[in-house]
Amino acid sequence: MKNILIDIIAGARPNFMKIAPIMRAFSAQKLCPHNIELRLIHTGQHYDSTMSGDFFQQLDIPTPQVNLGVGSGSQAAQTAAIMVGYEQVLMQKRPHMCIVVGDVNSTMACAIAAKKSNCLVSHVEAGIRSGDISMPEEINRIVTDSITDYFFTTSKTASDNLIKFGANPNAVFLVGNTMIDTLLQNLARLRPPVFWNEHELKQRNYFVLTLHRPDNVDQEEKLHALIQQISTVLKDHICIFPVHPRTAKTLARFDVPSNIIVTCPLPYLEFTYLLKHSEGVITDSGGITEEATFLKIPCITMRESTERPETVTVGSNELVGTNFHLLENALLRIISGNWKKSTVPPYWDGNAAVRIVDVLCKEVFAVA
Ligand code: UD1
Repeated sequence: MKNILIDIIAGARPNFMKIAPIMRAFSAQKLCPHNIELRLIHTGQHYDSTMSGDFFQQLDIPTPQVNLGVGSGSQAAQTAAIMVGYEQVLMQKRPHMCIVVGDVNSTMACAIAAKKSNCLVSHVEAGIRSGDISMPEEINRIVTDSITDYFFTTSKTASDNLIKFGANPNAVFLVGNTMIDTLLQNLARLRPPVFWNEHELKQRNYFVLTLHRPDNVDQEEKLHALIQQISTVLKDHICIFPVHPRTAKTLARFDVPSNIIVTCPLPYLEFTYLLKHSEGVITDSGGITEEATFLKIPCITMRESTERPETVTVGSNELVGTNFHLLENALLRIISGNWKKSTVPPYWDGNAAVRIVDVLCKEVFAVA
């Protein structure tokens, strides 16, 4: 029996929901012929308690063995700081494999550092593509997948993208969605946010809004116009807007209409409760389109493209970009109860992390 060290990388808010079930599945597995040691590396890309610590506590994620503490910075500065910091960790003790999740800067930076140290790289949520290379996440996806050894995908489309891209089909595994694993594991624990009674929120009497893409939130005029449009169409419907720190900087420069209720970023259990009981969600996040699809909550995405097409083709999501007429039309269809019927994509059943760990233990570490 050998000792196999595996690094798991987490850096930014959407990563935490993805690593939690993988860590749990590793702890529960009994298949691996070797002793597996997990080393959790937090890059520190997100650092506020509302963006990081609350998620560790609520999702019962162990304290990271290493926190690189890189913080914020430009795309290049943040990516470089993560690479330099993680390389030092790799030089002290090199793992057998590095598992990266999602498409944030931490994902790409750690994949590069690990591969250049001759570690195996596994990418969870591999193969998704928006086709919009102007988004930093699309670059992160392409670069990460180009040096990944084992690809774990959420959909057949993502697996097909990888094979078209030249990946070895024997290294591509359609396992489902670890974000949905976390959602299912926590459904019974969801709880209303502290302001639930204060704003007289009831099931289906409010919308949820989240915006954080640089393209939507970095320019004051654009963000102001988007919020005015949403407020105008919603009229007497209220909309809860938990604000990402990036968005908060721009939002501080103008008044928000009274039917849009601004709050801090919410912890996982409270945000998901809010989403689950809402009339609909307006967002530019990718993860929320998956959660809304699973919960069958009407979802309007303020982007021109998506890397998660199944949320549109079978799920509850619709893309409106920033076109006012499309947005108005979509909101009015939700309000009048005329949203499309949706289903949940295959394998989004709560077992993605167990499948990932099964593959690694049976097909990878068994021969290590
Ligand atoms: C990052 C990811 C994005 C993901 C999002 C989820 C990349 C390129 N982008 O975007 O894919 O959807 O996380 O939130 O990796 N800030 C704080 N406190 C924090 C974190 C950030 O105040 O804990 C502020 C900083 O001013 C920072 C800004 O938010 O400059 C943006 O943070 P950053 O990590 O650069 O990117 P996100 O926009 O959060």
